[in-house]
Amino acid sequence: KQKVILDVDTGTDDAVAIMLAALSPDVELLGVCSVNGNRGIDFTTENTLRVVEYLGLQDRIPVYRGCSLPMVSTLTPGRRDGIPATGEMDSNNIHGDYVELPPSTIHTQPEHAVFWLIDTLMKSDGDITLIPVGPLTNIAMALRIEPRIAQKIKQIVIMGGGYKEVNITPSAEFNFWVDPEAAKIVMDSGCDITVVPLDATHKAVLSLADADALESSGTPAGKATARFIRHRQAGYKVWQPMADIDTVPIHDALAVCAVIDPDVLQNVVHTYVDIDIAGGAADGMSICDVDKRYKDKQPNACVALSADKDRFSRMVKEILC
Ligand code: BDR
Ligand code: CA
Repeated sequence: KQKVILDVDTGTDDAVAIMLAALSPDVELLGVCSVNGNRGIDFTTENTLRVVEYLGLQDRIPVYRGCSLPMVSTLTPGRRDGIPATGEMDSNNIHGDYVELPPSTIHTQPEHAVFWLIDTLMKSDGDITLIPVGPLTNIAMALRIEPRIAQKIKQIVIMGGGYKEVNITPSAEFNFWVDPEAAKIVMDSGCDITVVPLDATHKAVLSLADADALESSGTPAGKATARFIRHRQAGYKVWQPMADIDTVPIHDALAVCAVIDPDVLQNVVHTYVDIDIAGGAADGMSICDVDKRYKDKQPNACVALSADKDRFSRMVKEILC
């Protein structure tokens, strides 16, 4: 079993990622940290608690509340200052404020996520994999407070960034755009890093037919995931239609699947990834030097440029049904 810590800004696709990590027989989920992102920290924490309680796993999987703002910018949670809410169907409709599960009656642990991360990693045998699928604020903050954790982390498998694909500005993916400085700190940490960017997650889509199959399994996780797929499909249809309008990416779930079975990722390149933190039009952009044009940079990550859709959907169904 692989020891794993999830860092989430739950979120419909984060919710599926939590269920996969919690239910996979190949994963020992040590805890889940929440972070500001898709929504403010109160929402993402409550949504995380909802998922854990819905699965009835509150005695096994502790939840830690993390950072409420990015490292440098003073953003309104979930949205950058200065970007007006349109009230139209947009990326926020992919998630809603609350995931469609019963309100939680359980609580987070007393410790802050960043300090729990540091303690747990420092006491570990270097055998813990981090899977951050929201903005990288908690991980970067932990690295700044206790840089020695870098040697203790087995691997970081990040959902974030894009090589050719973007989804929030013309240059950036959402997680890296919310906290570019944190993304840069993590990419420069020297840790063993795998990046699962939009180029991969946009290949590993699930369909309305997958939702039907998950629903008919009758398991709580299958039924909830079916609901999230349908919710996301309704949002994507208007906001960012996929090539096949009946399919949607479940970005964060792919990062968890990649830890369970790395072969779900395809076209993986070992390369240098830089993050734009200039605060301008390209803020949060991930620059992947796939063609090795920087002569003075060493690779700092493995980046998946594609994914195996069939293997992904098979894994999701096997684990959740
Ligand atoms: C990422 O942004 C969030 O909206 C999703 O949860 C995912 O982590 C995709 O860009
Ligand atoms: Ca997320």
